[in-house]
Amino acid sequence: MSVYHIDRSMLDRHRRRIVRIVRRVDECLDTVSLYMHNPFSSDPIPGQFTMIWIPGVDEIPLSISYMDSCILGVTVRGVGEATRILCSLQPGDTIGVRGPLGRGFTIVKGRSLVVGGGVGVAPLRYLIYRLIDVGVDTYVVFGFRDKLHTIYLEEMEKLSVEGRIKLCIATEDGSYGFKATAYDIASRILDESFDMVYVCGPEELIRRILVLCVEKDLPMEASIEGYMKCGMGVCGSCVRGAYLVCRDGPVFDRDKLLEIGEIGLRRRRASGTIEPLL
Ligand SMILES: Cc1cc2nc3c(=O)[nH]c(=O)nc-3n(C[C@H](O)[C@H](O)[C@H](O)COP(=O)(O)OP(=O)(O)OC[C@H]3O[C@@H](n4cnc5c(N)ncnc54)[C@H](O)[C@@H]3O)c2cc1C
Ligand code: FES
Repeated sequence: MSVYHIDRSMLDRHRRRIVRIVRRVDECLDTVSLYMHNPFSSDPIPGQFTMIWIPGVDEIPLSISYMDSCILGVTVRGVGEATRILCSLQPGDTIGVRGPLGRGFTIVKGRSLVVGGGVGVAPLRYLIYRLIDVGVDTYVVFGFRDKLHTIYLEEMEKLSVEGRIKLCIATEDGSYGFKATAYDIASRILDESFDMVYVCGPEELIRRILVLCVEKDLPMEASIEGYMKCGMGVCGSCVRGAYLVCRDGPVFDRDKLLEIGEIGLRRRRASGTIEPLL
């Protein structure tokens, strides 16, 4: 029989706090960043997520995309009912927040490559600021469908101009930056001089970078998704391989990603049935 251990910090992290939105930024056509007073008693690790409750609608997982001592930020792409309603919220509106939840990225000193695609850049933004803070030499590759779907461009370009990161932006149609995918660029840059490769984005991107990192024997961590309901390791709906994404992830290292095996190949729907991705 397995024993489910509940400690005080877990109770605290799963207490839903009602917070007021203080600022919204329209990032692109369908993506908005929402900022609220930081309700957490502990400092989140980049890659950790929050369960955001939209009263009367749903509770969904979102990565922490911004954090300072006073303000918490999330970035949401409108893809369905809950996310579209979140995208329509204005300063003064209230939502519920649980967190910080799950396991985040490991900060490794030296040289890092950060690869993101689409709204997967959300947790990487907070990670990038942490890497800069601890003096990691950070190379950022972000890929988007087209210019209309780019996120955090101005902010990343400012960091690049200030010499705090090296930056490469790619769009699939070439309407901004290189006409390429994030994978195309990352595969050209990736060599043995990197001490860590961080990835978040479409599973196809994660799977292909994983193959490269195995070939070159480079350490890698990726944030993956699972269909979340409870967000606390109880319901089992977010299972991937032998792991629960909400409890054991969402960030997994190279060996665990290999063990999970199904990355980019299949995923579980809300009903629990398996859906092929290829
Ligand atoms: C750890 C984690 C971090 C995430 N971070 C972000 C983020 O920073 N920004 C962002 O825009 N999105 C993020 N997502 C995805 C986001 O949770 C889903 O887009 C959202 O739940 C969709 O809800 P919906 O009602 O708008 O759409 P629906 O119509 O319900 O679903 C649209 C798509 O989202 C998936 N989805 C729906 N509900 C969930 C759920 N509870 N858990 C996981 N996937 C779901 C469905 O499989 C479907 O593919 C994250 C997901 C996870 C697991
Ligand atoms: S969401 Fe319930 S176990 Fe992960």
